[in-house]
Amino acid sequence: MAKTIQAIRGMNDCAPTESPLWQWIEAKVRHVLASYGYSEVRMPIVESTPLFARAIGEVTDVVSKEMYTFWDNDEQLTLRPEGTAGCVRAAIERGWIYNNEQRLWYMGPMFRHERPQKGRYRQFHQAGVEVFGIANPEIDAELIILTARLWKELGIDQHVSLQLNSIGSLEARANYRSALVAFLENHQDLMSDEEKERLGKNPLRILDTKNEVLQEVLNGAPKLLDYLDDESREHFNQLCSLLDAMGVKYEINPKLVRGLDYYNKTVFEWVTSALGAQGTVCGGGRYDGLVEQLGGHATQGVGFAMGLERLVLLVQEVNKEITLPQAVDLYLVYAGEGATLNAFQIAEQIRTELPQVRVMTHCSGGKFQKQFKRADKIEAKYALVIGESEVQAKTVVVKDLRNGAEQITLSQADLVATLKTYF
Ligand code: HAM
Repeated sequence: MAKTIQAIRGMNDCAPTESPLWQWIEAKVRHVLASYGYSEVRMPIVESTPLFARAIGEVTDVVSKEMYTFWDNDEQLTLRPEGTAGCVRAAIERGWIYNNEQRLWYMGPMFRHERPQKGRYRQFHQAGVEVFGIANPEIDAELIILTARLWKELGIDQHVSLQLNSIGSLEARANYRSALVAFLENHQDLMSDEEKERLGKNPLRILDTKNEVLQEVLNGAPKLLDYLDDESREHFNQLCSLLDAMGVKYEINPKLVRGLDYYNKTVFEWVTSALGAQGTVCGGGRYDGLVEQLGGHATQGVGFAMGLERLVLLVQEVNKEITLPQAVDLYLVYAGEGATLNAFQIAEQIRTELPQVRVMTHCSGGKFQKQFKRADKIEAKYALVIGESEVQAKTVVVKDLRNGAEQITLSQADLVATLKTYF
């Protein structure tokens, strides 16, 4: 036999047994977004590399270590590691945000060259939202309320919690950065080489270190919230008041800074303890400077993205209540003179008149016994049986495969009407 070729590490296939849950989750996401009036956009999976370098930031982990980048003739291209940069690029280029507010969403694969583990993959899927042109914290609150509604719909709301912070304006962050570096310089003996490097390049990322000794020390570090500019503080207070009034619970986490450079003011993450190390199911925040930074007219932005693999894992872990649609409701079992054509005609008629019913026609020949085995294996609810005598008599045998294989014979003319009472 020829040698088999394997999938790339960290890039998963979605099996036929897994896709119903994915589709169920995706349908909930689409439904919730539609119910808030958001519109779907679709962007390319490949963009020019400088887009990500400029939007996400050269010194972030994503840009400095995790991008899949290649040359296409003399142009450097990258598989998108996230959706915000491409969405902003498209919004500017296509004029979507020219004198216009927009509430947009997208769903699709993203690529990051990270070390794969449970909940962390090299190809993963995000559903993301980007809102343009609204400065008011009401929209930050709407995004959070929208995600809270989605968690309820998915049956995971008791297993996720909201972390919230404000990282203020660029200037506020620069002031804070100096204070933090001054503080951390006295603790370099506790730092790994990577953390020392971060101290020079991206010191705020040290705040979410996994190094426990350093975490302890950081409890005494200057707090970002104490350095906020007045406008950001007021924005954050208004957001918190609206969330309080709407009954959305959150924890203010002064160490939450997020891993991408474009944020200002609000940042948030929905986290769970049910998935081990990769517990962030959704993250986002405001990015009021990004559109201008990428060459557009100054336009506020705010958004988030959720990791669909993590949501699938979490739903599997905590929501045992869902009933997923069966792949097949009716299985057509047939053999003998004229039976193939008759079965095909009946199957087409049912598909026309009962479009919600899933009908599978056997197609691969063999004895009735083999065909019934197949119907059982795919867990069809009913078999419709047509042999030579049924063709002659214009009848069909309906066999209930769930309830002790009870069976009745119906005239083909009455079949659809009877099936309508089943589905
Ligand atoms: P992010 O925090 O990098 O933000 O990713 C958002 C979510 O994608 C994470 O919370 C996680 O659930 C999922 N995710 C990230 N990396 C992986 C991975 N390697 N494997 C599986 N899931 C992963 C962003 O991407 C921003 N663009 C979000 C945003 C939109 N901010 C404003 N607008």
